[in-house]
Parts: sequence; C-alpha cells; structure tokens
Amino acid sequence: MDIIVKLAYLVASIMFIIGIKKMNKPATARNGNQISAFGMLIAIVATMVQLDVLSLPEVLICIVIGSAIGYYVSQKVQMTQMPEMVALFNGFGGLASLGVGLSDYWLKSVENGEIVNNITLISILVTILIGGITFTGSYVAFAKLNGRISGNAIVFKGQHWLNFVLLLGACAGGALVLWQQDMIWGIYALLFISLLLGVLVVIPIGGADMPVVISLLNSYSGMAACATGFVLNNYMLIVAGALVGSSGIILTNIMCKGMNRSLLNVVMGGFGQTSTSAITVGGKSNLIVKEVGVEEAAILFDSASSVVIVPGYGMAVAQAQHIIKELMEILLKKNINVRFAIHPVAGRMPGHMNVLLAESNVPYDRLLEPDDIDDDLSNTDIVFVVGANDVVNPAARHDKNSPIYGMPIINADKAKTVIVSKRSMASGYAGIENELFGYPNCLMLFGDAKTTLTKVVNEIKEM
Ligand code: TAP
Repeated sequence: MDIIVKLAYLVASIMFIIGIKKMNKPATARNGNQISAFGMLIAIVATMVQLDVLSLPEVLICIVIGSAIGYYVSQKVQMTQMPEMVALFNGFGGLASLGVGLSDYWLKSVENGEIVNNITLISILVTILIGGITFTGSYVAFAKLNGRISGNAIVFKGQHWLNFVLLLGACAGGALVLWQQDMIWGIYALLFISLLLGVLVVIPIGGADMPVVISLLNSYSGMAACATGFVLNNYMLIVAGALVGSSGIILTNIMCKGMNRSLLNVVMGGFGQTSTSAITVGGKSNLIVKEVGVEEAAILFDSASSVVIVPGYGMAVAQAQHIIKELMEILLKKNINVRFAIHPVAGRMPGHMNVLLAESNVPYDRLLEPDDIDDDLSNTDIVFVVGANDVVNPAARHDKNSPIYGMPIINADKAKTVIVSKRSMASGYAGIENELFGYPNCLMLFGDAKTTLTKVVNEIKEM
C-alpha cells in the first residue's frame, strides 16, 4: 500500500508540474488548471488511504463543509476582488501549517514526552514562524484591500529595526526549544512574535502594492506547507509546498520587473500609499487635452484600417470586456485589423486582462505582449486605451524623477491616433499625471468605459 501511495504522489507531482507549465499561456491555462486540480484529487485520495489521525467520516464532513464555503465564496466574489480572495486563501494555508506544527509539537513533546529529532524540531519551528507570519500578514493584506483597515502605508520611526529585533526574538525562542525540547515558553514566544511580525511587515505597505505582497505571501504559504511536509514526513506536502513556494517567488519577481521595482522597495513600503502627487481622483490636471465625443470616436474607428486595444484596470472596474469583444467583432466585419496589447502588470493582479478577455471569448491569438506589437504601433491607425493609465505613460521612458521611470510600457503614443477611455483626469495606481493625455495625437473619450463603449458600438452599427 505504501508503494501505491508513493506512486500516486509521484503522479500527482508530475501533474502539478505539467499544470503549472500549461498555465504559462492563456490558450492552455484552463487545461493546466484542470490537470493540476486532478493531480490534487489523486493526492488527497492517496493521503486518505493512509489516514491515521481522523476517521474517514470525520475527514469527509470537513471536506463537505470546506467545499460548501469555497463554492459559496467563489460564486459571490467579483473579478476585481480576486486578490482579496487569494490573500484569504494564503492566510488559511498559513494557519493550517501553523496548526500542524503546533499540534505535532504538543502531541510529541508535551503529551507523549517523546524526544523529537532536530530535523523535525527545526521543521516544526519553521512551520510556526512562516505559518504565523503568513496568517496574520495575509489577513492584514485582505483587510487593506477590502477597506476594513486603511489602505495607506502605516509607517513609524524605527519600524524596520523593531521587525529585525522581533525576528531575533523569534529565533531566540526557537533556539531555546532546540536546546531544551520541553521549553514550551520558547514555542509561545515564537508563536506570538510570528503573529505580530505578520502584522508589522504588511502594515507599512500601501494598499496598491498588496498584489505583490499577496504573491509573496503565497510563496510563504508554500514554504510553510513544505516545512509541514517535513514535520509529517509527507512527500506530497514537501513537493506541493516547494512548487507553490518557488512559483510564488517567480511570480513576485515577474510583477516587480513589470513595475521596474525591486522586491526590497516593495517590502519596505511607502510607494503604494494613496497618491499625494500631481492629480488624484476627481482632481484637476494642468494638461491641455482634446476631448472626443461618441459619434466622432465611432467615425474614427469606422475609417481606420488597424486598431490596437490596450486594456487596463479601468476595464476591470467597468466590466467592459464584453462590449470590447463586441467592438472587436464589429470592426473585424469591416475588415479592420484588431489586436490587443496586454501589459504584464495591467490591472491589479497577474494575468488580470487575459482572464477578463478570455471570459468574453476574445481569441487568444489576438492578445499580444508589448514587445510583439511594439514595431507595429507606428503604423497603427488607432491605439484605443481602455481604462489603462500607467502602462501607457511615456514618462516611464524619459522622466528620471517619475516613480515609474524605467518601467516597460506599451508605446501607445507612437500610433497615428490614440483614443483614451476613462472617466476623468484622475491618476492611476502610481498616482502620477500621464503626459500622453496632453499629446497632440491623443483624444480623451470621457465616461465609464462600458457605458461609453456601448454608445460607440451602437453608433458604429448604425453607420
Ligand atoms: P492604472 O494606472 O491603475 O489606471 C487605471 C485607470 O482606469 C485610472 O486612471 C482610472 O481613471 C481608469 N478607470 C477606473 N475606472 C474606470 C471606469 N469605470 N471606466 C473607465 N476608466 C476607468 O491601470 P493600468 O494602466 O492597468 O496599470 C496598472 C498599474 O497597477 C500599474 O502601475 C502597475 O504597476 C500596478 N500594479 C499592477 C499589478 C498587477 S500584477 N497587475 C499589481 C500591483 C500593482 P478614471 O478614474 O479617470 O476613470
């Protein structure tokens, strides 16, 4: 039986790896997700065969309750709330690992007075430390995104030193337990400090930087699960935890690169706080911009031969992906070449734009990465920017004082005409003015993206 379980774990691990590989491309991502989920089913069944803590009915009751909550939440959650949901998932992952570490210590050291070997003991300590930080850190991230606490960065003097001293305190607690295994105060200290550290390391980070932090916490939850695998001597947890830990860190790195920021810069906080710069929501801009009306925009589209659509966070807010698909279809019928330029950090979570456009069935081969379309932009009649801002801001190319300087952007300004759909002159995530809006070839189509686009589409239909 042991061999069969190990074989099942091996098959599940291979399926996880194939699944992650397939998630690389939008066209294969759904299939990758299914393969990974099936691998997880195999792993769960194999683990249940070996049950020695809870009875089968007890496990089944837990699965039914958990699945019901998961189903309910997944039906209720909006696409824009996805980062919050992932934050909660990570938090629960951290809490589960923490629970395993604590209970294993309690069972072996306190109740049975067993002498636990150092590898297991270190794994228990690491599980408690990372699990605790992940749990409270993720909850703070969730609360910031959800508006339960202020999304502003909460900073005070000596904050990083305090965190450093606390980390030393946690290590001291752990060292105490390693020195004398029944030093339960060491465990209590480690537990308390890790929960406190989770709060303290996330509060200085502005709400808008949370997606990066969530991806990092996702990686931590994987590491905690991996350590749990060593505690329980379970290969599946070690492999799955290591995969989550490493893919989380790769994703965090991709996000930081896309924003041209270092991970240290994100973790030290400050950037993502509510903007105090040039313009804020509803604020005034010094730029002189040219407005375009719905009819005029429709005429421009109708007379173009190539259009590149650049979606951004505003498309997600407006839920404009379906009407954009309709616009694409209507233009294609008129033999106008329509493509999409997708920036890796457009929106507020990795793959945000791809997911929304896939939801409205925009064919994957029309979605291009910035580098793939850059050479074509100067020959493009219209670049249509829908709810995007920072990812098309030319300041990233030349303004060394700009917080987004060096960030790779979609060079929308190279096109013959740029039409920007947004509600006002408000800034985007980085809180800075976008000089593109004042360029001679740029026209502003003000209003909620879905409402305005619906009018534009109707107008084109009538032409
Ligand atoms: P942003 O720069 O955030 O701009 C979004 C724009 O959408 C805003 O200027 C807003 O202007 C407009 N908008 C909001 N609601 C709208 C609506 N209903 N209809 C039309 N427009 C609407 O978005 P972006 O260009 O996608 O850039 C993403 C930013 O987020 C980058 O700075 C990136 O670094 C950052 N970020 C991304 C991620 C990931 S992984 N994607 C993670 C963390 C941070 P109005 O209010 O005037 O309408």
